[in-house]
Amino acid sequence: MTILVTGGAGFIGSNFVLDWVAETGEAVVNLDKLTYAGNVANLSSLEGNPLHIFVRADIGDTETVAKLLRKYNVRALVNFAAESHVDRSIHGPAEFIQTNVVGTFRLLDEARAYWVELSEEKKRDFRFLHVSTDEVYGSLKPLDPAFKESNPYEPNSPYSASKAASDHLVRAWHHTYGLPVLTTNCSNNYGPYHFPEKLIPLCILNAIAGKPLPIYGDGQQVRDWLYVKDHCAAIRRVLEAGEVGQTYNVGGWNEKANLDVVHAICAILDELRPRGDGKPYSEQVTFVTDRPGHDRRYAIDASKLERELGWKPAETFETGIRRTVSWYLENSGWVATVTSGEYRKWLDTNYGSR
Ligand code: NAD
Ligand code: TYD
Repeated sequence: MTILVTGGAGFIGSNFVLDWVAETGEAVVNLDKLTYAGNVANLSSLEGNPLHIFVRADIGDTETVAKLLRKYNVRALVNFAAESHVDRSIHGPAEFIQTNVVGTFRLLDEARAYWVELSEEKKRDFRFLHVSTDEVYGSLKPLDPAFKESNPYEPNSPYSASKAASDHLVRAWHHTYGLPVLTTNCSNNYGPYHFPEKLIPLCILNAIAGKPLPIYGDGQQVRDWLYVKDHCAAIRRVLEAGEVGQTYNVGGWNEKANLDVVHAICAILDELRPRGDGKPYSEQVTFVTDRPGHDRRYAIDASKLERELGWKPAETFETGIRRTVSWYLENSGWVATVTSGEYRKWLDTNYGSR
């Protein structure tokens, strides 16, 4: 048996694929379009490993999806593929609607067509796990309780609206057609292979390059942060034991203001790679114009996942952020390919004629 992962060359997807192969020994077919956010270098340690089959394709490419599901006798599909950056969704929402909404619809429908043909036993065991975000719940006031699975959907950005739409489609494919779905709504992830357009990797790399650390608005926006490997473990657990049709919130119990996150990064860098002039990296913090419609606070109540499936994060923010900063310092080769744009050329060379 095999699982099909979409978006497995992106940040969370590649961490998931690496962990899946290491932890389960089960084969994984990895379908990824390789947008600017997808990077096969994340998976270089799996080169030549028969448990990893990489296919460059769009989740909306119904022919390829249909073929892969049947060829590899897929028992579960985990959908990470998405446009994922809020700022990009503000500048250009069209791709977000195309991939996150239309793409998820096409994937669901191909999964359904495959699922109806399965034997009764395989039908019962099949899972479509949709990876989503806490941003679908909107923005919290300072004293509001954390998001529960029962919170109403109130998305505010084109990104979160497109993810909310995809969550609704997943729900409908279960209720209308019986497709055995699971949905996870997770808070902000951080860790290895995080594309440096997002706050944490951007600040680590800008800091050591002597560049400004851009803080939107007053930097008091609050996010819950979860180390990516903990998210991967949560998804594995939900896939294994989650109740069909249910949604599970995933979070780190780590609410932090953006400015505090950036100061924490600066303090670790001061220790691990002090500035040549002996001054603290926090001097590079620069306040810039806020993001339009910027959500003020997200917080996740992940107690359902702990109570029902026994999952808890292994990392605290302090241990996870230290691991992350160290990873970026130790992986300057990966950083160079991502930031120079060279990796795109390599992709064209390697995949362009296939
Ligand atoms: P990412 O942007 O790093 O990676 C997305 C991957 O999807 C890339 O490899 C990209 O090439 C691929 N992709 C994009 N469009 C595609 C398409 N049409 N067909 C096939 N592949 C396509 O994103 P990420 O941070 O790894 O997030 C993965 C998933 O987790 C997303 O669904 C996101 O909404 C969700 N999520 C992310 C976070 C977070 O903090 N990053 C938190 C909660 C949920
Ligand atoms: P980001 O990493 O883009 O994730 P999301 O918008 O999905 O939460 O941003 C995390 C927080 O950091 C968010 O409140 C926006 C803020 N931010 C900055 O202050 N400066 C930056 O340069 C970036 C990219 C984000």
